[in-house]
Amino acid sequence: MRALTYHGTRDVRVENVPDPVLQDSDDIILRVTATAICGSDLHLYRGKMPGMEAGDILGHEFMGIVEDAGPDVVRIARGDRVVVPFVIACGTCFFCQLSEYAACQNTNPGGGAALNRKALTPPAALFGYSALYGGVPGGQAEYVRVPKANVGPLVIPDGLADEQVLFLSDILPTGYQAAINAGIKPGSTVAIFGAGPVGQMCAACCRMLGADRIFMVDHHPYRLEFARTTYGVHPIDFDEQDDPAEMIVQATAGRGVDASIEAVGFEAKGSTTETVLTAMKLEGSSGYALRQCIAATRRGGVVSIPGVYAGFIHAFLIGDAFDKGLTFRMGQTHVQRFMPELLQMIQEGRLAPEALITHRLPLDEAARGYAVFDEKREDCRKVVLTPA
Ligand SMILES: NC(=O)c1ccc[n+]([C@@H]2O[C@H](COP(=O)([O-])OP(=O)(O)OC[C@H]3O[C@@H](n4cnc5c(N)ncnc54)[C@H](O)[C@@H]3O)[C@@H](O)[C@H]2O)c1
Ligand SMILES: [Zn+2]
Ligand SMILES: [Zn+2]
Repeated sequence: MRALTYHGTRDVRVENVPDPVLQDSDDIILRVTATAICGSDLHLYRGKMPGMEAGDILGHEFMGIVEDAGPDVVRIARGDRVVVPFVIACGTCFFCQLSEYAACQNTNPGGGAALNRKALTPPAALFGYSALYGGVPGGQAEYVRVPKANVGPLVIPDGLADEQVLFLSDILPTGYQAAINAGIKPGSTVAIFGAGPVGQMCAACCRMLGADRIFMVDHHPYRLEFARTTYGVHPIDFDEQDDPAEMIVQATAGRGVDASIEAVGFEAKGSTTETVLTAMKLEGSSGYALRQCIAATRRGGVVSIPGVYAGFIHAFLIGDAFDKGLTFRMGQTHVQRFMPELLQMIQEGRLAPEALITHRLPLDEAARGYAVFDEKREDCRKVVLTPA
């Protein structure tokens, strides 16, 4: 089959690889009908995640038709059309029973990314996300093996197009969990840092949950403009405004927003020193966007972090967070928990995540899709790939 494989920094190729086969009795083989490129894939593409090997198949946002199923698969059957969550969870362990699927202790033979883990079990395995997260082949391919098929895949009713539901696999639940973690309710004020696909889904969910004012910070005017016209955000371009947090504080009666959402991640731009130190591995992450979040949030407010972080940050202003009495919530999304309710919201017309899509490419042009999305060319917001 054809699949998008990793070969090193900014080197991905669509190649012929062996077809996946059933391994465990609760596996399915999925024929992929649509798959997307995520900002998380860009961290891999830029060579920033350890544990990647040449030939690894990428992709964790995908859907398709069940082609084959192991004997213990009972919740879905051959021929069903399903969306697959990017988190692989067993459904029965301590964490899965709490609906904390991203912490599942039974799916990841890797170690995860924590530096001081002690004897803890690693977090759940993820599709296409390096040996640290289980080394599970991803779904930017014609076919993919889906483990734990009784727990993850969600059957999609007829009448909904692939594009309407594909983002249930990751970025829609991620935006929703970030908004829930931020405590968004009618009348809330919120600042979203990052206007990529995740930031956009955060804006959509904050709007749906009744937020009053939504500030959004980025330096790509086309992304800010989409969020302004689609979700009614107040855009702030950090190339023009060098201290967005200060502006946000002034615009909220000198108080700050109820919550900030950090939808950028560890490669945040804005501090040359931290960017250089991170490249030299003397710093684990750039803390610039995180400091902006802390500064923009009111006393007693929440900082919600869907953006991926790794390692340590020296200039983390823990004293400011304590002084203000902030709450931090973060982590990989417990995708399985939110998929059914979000599907219903799509059916009711309350969410239309497909509006994000700007690029539709055949799988064979995936390498171009990565380059365009990475370099923010052609006003790219989100790339969807379709296997032939
Ligand atoms: N928690 C989860 O489960 C989960 C799921 C999906 C994605 N993610 C993470 O979310 C993050 C965003 O993903 P995406 O798909 O939107 O990626 P993206 O790279 O397309 O978007 C990131 C945006 O942040 C902007 N940015 C950079 N520095 C900034 C700064 N200092 N202030 C404000 N904006 C800044 C960039 O210009 C870009 O538009 C990534 O770290 C990704 O790995 C996490
Ligand atoms: Zn993703
Ligand atoms: Zn589990």
